[in-house]
Amino acid sequence: MKDPKILTSPSILACDFLHLEDEIRRAVASGADLLHADVMDGMFVPNMSFGFDVIRLIHGITDVPLDVHMMTSAPQKYIEVLRDTGAAIVTIHNDIGLSDEELIEALKKIRECGMKPAISLRPKIPAESVFPLLPYVDMVLVMTVEPGFGGQKFMADMLPKIAAIRKEIDRQGRDIDIQVDGGINEENAARTAAAGANVFVVGTASFRAPDMKAALDGVKAAAEASFGKDL
Ligand code: DX5
Ligand code: ZN
Repeated sequence: MKDPKILTSPSILACDFLHLEDEIRRAVASGADLLHADVMDGMFVPNMSFGFDVIRLIHGITDVPLDVHMMTSAPQKYIEVLRDTGAAIVTIHNDIGLSDEELIEALKKIRECGMKPAISLRPKIPAESVFPLLPYVDMVLVMTVEPGFGGQKFMADMLPKIAAIRKEIDRQGRDIDIQVDGGINEENAARTAAAGANVFVVGTASFRAPDMKAALDGVKAAAEASFGKDL
C-alpha cells in the first residue's frame, strides 16, 4: 500500500457560528489542511445547515481548500454554483436516487468545473456499491455516523468497510483518498488510519477542544503512526 498524505479537515458545523470569521481563522491557525463544510437540505438528512453564500464568504477569507460535503438529495443541480463559491472538493452521496451512470455524469461535471469529485456512503451502504465509481473520484468519504448531526459517536463497525475500499483502490491501482467523518478523535483516527483512511474530518473534537491545534496535531500524529498498520 502506497502511503498517501494524512490531512485534517475541521468540520465548520461544530464552530461557534456567532463568530464565524474568528472560528475559520482559528481553524487555519491550528493547521487545518482542509475546511469541511456540511451542506444539508432537510431532505437527504433530517437537518439543515448553511448554504452557498456562507461557503463563498469563507473562501473569501482563506486559501485553505474547502471540502464541501453535500448531504442533499439533488447535488447535481448545484455544481456550477459550487464552482462559483470557490469550493475545492465536492462530495456527493451515492444513495440519492441516481443510477451509477447519472452519478458518473455528476462526478465528471464536478471535475470539468475544476473541483475534485468525491463519493460518500452512509453507514448502511456497502463498500462494493462505490467500486464502479472509483475511476471517477479523487476521494471516498466513509461516514462513521449517520449523517445529519455533529457530536455523535464513532461507529467502529465501519472499519472493515474502510479496509475493503482501500483494498479495492489498491487493486485498481488508483491514488484515491479515503476520508472519514463522524465522531473522529485522536483515538479512533489511529484505528481508521490503520484500516486505510487518510483524510480526517474532525468537528466536535477540534472546535470544541480546549486547544484546537493540539487536537488536530494529535489526530494527524496518531494517523501518521498507524496508516496501513496492523494495530
Ligand atoms: C455529520 C457531518 C459531519 C459532522 C462531524 O453529518 O457530516 O461532518 O459535522 O462532526 P463530529 O466530528 O462532531 O462528528
Ligand atoms: Zn460531513
